[in-house]
Order: sequence, then C-alpha cells, then structure tokens
Amino acid sequence: MMLPNYKEARKRVKNKYNTINYKIDKKFINNYTGKTYYIKTYGCQMNEHDSENISAMIEELGFKKVDDYNNADLVLLNTCSIRENAHNKAFGMLGRLKHLKETINKDLIIGLCGCMAQEEGVVDEILKDYKFVNFVFGTHNLHELPTIIDKAIKEEKQVIEVYSKEGDLVEGIPVKRDKDYKAYVNIIYGCDKFCTYCIVPYTRGGQRSRKKEDIIEEVKQLVADGYKEVTLLGQNVNAYGKDLYKDYGLGELLEDVSKTNIERVRFMTSHPWDFTDNMIDVIAKYKNIMPSIHLPIQSGSNKILKLMGRRYTQESYLDLFNKIKEKIPNVSISTDIIVGFPNETEEDFRKTLEVVEYCKFDNAFTFIYSPRENTPAAKLKDIVTQEEKEERLQRLNTIVNKYFLEKNKKLVGKEVLVLTEGVSDKKNMYYGYTDTNKLINFTGKNISRGDIVTVKIDDAKTWSLDGHVK
Ligand code: 5AD
Ligand code: SF4
Repeated sequence: MMLPNYKEARKRVKNKYNTINYKIDKKFINNYTGKTYYIKTYGCQMNEHDSENISAMIEELGFKKVDDYNNADLVLLNTCSIRENAHNKAFGMLGRLKHLKETINKDLIIGLCGCMAQEEGVVDEILKDYKFVNFVFGTHNLHELPTIIDKAIKEEKQVIEVYSKEGDLVEGIPVKRDKDYKAYVNIIYGCDKFCTYCIVPYTRGGQRSRKKEDIIEEVKQLVADGYKEVTLLGQNVNAYGKDLYKDYGLGELLEDVSKTNIERVRFMTSHPWDFTDNMIDVIAKYKNIMPSIHLPIQSGSNKILKLMGRRYTQESYLDLFNKIKEKIPNVSISTDIIVGFPNETEEDFRKTLEVVEYCKFDNAFTFIYSPRENTPAAKLKDIVTQEEKEERLQRLNTIVNKYFLEKNKKLVGKEVLVLTEGVSDKKNMYYGYTDTNKLINFTGKNISRGDIVTVKIDDAKTWSLDGHVK
C-alpha cells in the first residue's frame, strides 16, 4: 500500500526525472476478454485525456467499454479536486456504486483515480468508510494501471497505490481517442506556481515538459491519421520547456507544431505571468494557430491577486491583454474568475467587475472560492458569507453574459471557418467551433464530421451562434 503525503507532494526537485517508455507485461494482455468497463471522468481536459489513456490500457487487458455502469464489471472514476462540488459528485457516484454492488452486482470492481486520489483526506476516508472500493491509484502512476487492476481483481483487500511525488515521464502510453478529428496532446505535466487557493500543484506534481521531438512526432502522426485539430495541454502551458531547454519555450513549440501543417492548433491553459512577446508574435504569424486565448485573471483586485499569489497586478494583466488584442487580429480572450476569496471586500469585487467591463471577455468561467485541503488560502480567515459569495457570482454572471451576447452580435453577417463536429440536437443543423472557439449551429448539405467549412453567421445567442454554409 502506498498512501499520498502532502509534505512530499509539495517538494520540488529540479530535473530529477527521466523519460521512460510504457510497456505492458505480456501476461496481462487480453486476460479479461469478455469483461466490460465503464469510466466516468470529472474535471479538466487533462483528466479527459488521461481517461483516453486509461481506456486504451484497460482495453489491452481485454475489457470492452459500456455506456451504462449498471452493465459493467469494472467501474473507474477519474476524479477532480478543484472545488468541493467536484468532490461531492464523485462521492455521490460512489454511493450509487455501493448500492449497485450490495444489491445486484456483488462482483463489481470499483476503482478511483485522478486528482482526488492524490489527497490524503480522501484516501483516509476511502480506507475508513468506503471499503467496497477495490483500488485507488494516483496521477503519477497511470502507467501501472494493468498491474493495479490485475492485483485488485485477484486480491481481497483494497489496493491503494498513490505516489506523492511525480516519477519518470512516461512516453508511449496507448490512447483511445474520443474523437477522430480533434485531439489532445500533453506538452507539460504538473505546476510549480502554487497559487494559494489551488490544489493542482499537490495533485499533479512538479512541472515536467515532454521532449519537443516526442510532441512533434505525436502531432505528425495525428496529421497522418487525418486529424484536423490539436489542443496542446498543460496546467500552465506557458511554462513549457523551462525545465528542459534554455532557448525553447511555448512560442518555439507552437511554431514547430504549426509547421506540421495540422489545420488547427490550440493550447491551454496560459498563466499571464509567463506570456512572452514571442508567443504573441508566433500566434499572430501562423494562420493555423487559432486566435483564441484562455487567460485566467481570477480577480481584478491587486490585494486579492497578491493573497492568491498570482504574481501580476490588474495593470500588468491589462497591459498583456491590450498587447494581445493589438497584435493578434480578431483574437478572442476567455478567462476564469473566482469570487468570494477570503477577505474579498465589496470594493475588491468591484475591481473585478471593472476589469470585466473593460475586457468584455468572449467567455468566462466563474466560480465561488472553495477552500482546498492543505492549501495556504484554506488557512486564511474567511470574512465573506455564503450569501455574499452567491450574490457576487450572480452579479458577475449577469455582466459576463451581457458581453458574450454583445460580442456574438458583432459577428452577425460575418463569415467564419468552422470545424464541423456533428449534427446538433436541433433538426438538420450541424454544429462545430469557429477559429475563435465559439459554438455555432449551422445548416448545409453533405457535410461530414471533421470538415472545415465557411459559415455565414445569421444570428447570435449568449452561448452560441447560428449560421449557414456559404
Ligand atoms: N476555488 C474556486 N475556484 C478555483 N479554481 C481553482 N481553484 C479553485 C478554488 N479553490 C478555478 C480557477 C482556475 C480554474 C481551473 O478553477 O479559476 O483557473
Ligand atoms: Fe481537476 Fe485540476 Fe485535477 Fe484537472 S488538474 S482534474 S481541474 S484538480
């Protein structure tokens, strides 16, 4: 048994990892043919992509995927820790699985992985009160999944294998991609920023970049397989390369990925701190790098930004924002905002509203602050009441929504390039995303998933556009 430890998770050691290749022990291959699995994914794109790796590894064992957990022999929850409600959802699901195991499917194998598995408190709770969970493994040993599942099925007792520290960087883990036209590509794992509210540096470990050759090779393979779009993923993609190279960062990587001639390149998430002029120039220069940037601001108040440990001020964020707008034509900028951080006064909150009024973000993900286990902010005295937090969130949402609509309305009559994703719920309409990452429903004929088409925009809603193929 290997339990998570926060003190260990906090430590950062520079360049102490190697790149190794994934290898499955032949004795596991197709050992469980005839069995089925169900995987439920919570959280971010990183987790979604991990689930694509997990699915491929489980399928190597012989399991087949099912869409209903009631029909599965193995259920795996790939969890998220970012806010309390992510926790609650996963524990709620565990409750339903317990019932299923007690009543209908006594042999059900239940596993939990992802960020929650890296939390000391969660694992303690599972050991104490969730004995029906067969196995738990963390974000650092995904590649050991075949061994862990085999052990969990054969052993009577709970198998808990969570490493507190990131180990080697593993290349070559198989992947079963959800989509055949757009793909996620990890470029950097972990985070060293330690924003005071955030659990990610503990659950995902230290910043580790993949080698540029491995990334380019993966993208080239995707192009050869007919993929149209890649999203380069990382908790903070702007830090790409810092742990590996002297003069090679996200700007250079974007340029090299662009040169593979993949039709669309996206990247997320960017911390404003590491956004260089070179990155902006590269995004502006290459047509296949999408003019769409996710740039979380979190708060507009310098006092709160300092308490959050964000390393920028409202002024420096706005300087960067203006520079990006100036240099990249038609760029869309989206953001994340937290309200109700400990000690946020009405005046601090108004500063956030001021920034929102100025930036008129194309999209914004807004959250109420949620204290996370062992993070520095969780130790701050919180003076904001729940009612105040909810009221602030509502006020903020009213404003951000107003600007989504306003910005979308400006697009009516314009022509945009859209990557078609499929047929929408609305009868006879396709749907897809514009270069600026806006959802659009549109009419047209003989269009296939993955086609990039020119669409004229006819109508604007708050969260989507309507149009027709030209
Ligand atoms: N409480 C609320 N929101 C949070 N986020 C991260 N940690 C917390 C927290 N403890 C938000 C941030 C981040 C996004 C992914 O989630 O806005 O950018
Ligand atoms: Fe959730 Fe963050 Fe983990 Fe993603 S990295 S699953 S958002 S806690």
